[in-house]
Amino acid sequence: MKRLLSPLALVLLTGAALAQAPAGDAARGRELFMKDGCYQCHGTVGQGSRGAGPRLSPNTPPFEAFAQAVRKPANVMPVYTPLVLSDAGLADIHAYLRGLPGPAKAEDARILR
Ligand code: HEC
Repeated sequence: MKRLLSPLALVLLTGAALAQAPAGDAARGRELFMKDGCYQCHGTVGQGSRGAGPRLSPNTPPFEAFAQAVRKPANVMPVYTPLVLSDAGLADIHAYLRGLPGPAKAEDARILR
């Protein structure tokens, strides 16, 4: 029974790894976003910083494009290879940014009511 289950588990795990948007751990993603210095250019909640890095939240790019931008940056962003940032870590950061609430709406500001 155990021998039968192992290949099955392998197939399931491989399937999960190949899925387009891997499930990430947002809390771990936040840690990595700070530790790896993403926040220095993109802001602590991905709000972006003029001249340093574009906004990453809300409207975080889909995972494929996100991963591509980090592994092969378009211009001046430093390259993060899997040696410094694993694929799992990348998925975690993506989950962190995707899970952020984004800026509050102006009409929700009490002073404007
Ligand atoms: C030194 C500043 C800097 C750091 C550190 C940095 N970035 Fe960037 N990032 C940029 C800039 C500038 C761009 C715009 C493309 C370019 O110039 O390479 C960019 C682009 C991106 C994009 C594409 C955004 C889009 O809408 O196309 C993503 C995604 C991204 N960065 C994620 C990250 C992540 C995740 C980290 C940390 C692991 C990180 N960046 C660290 C400066 C930085």
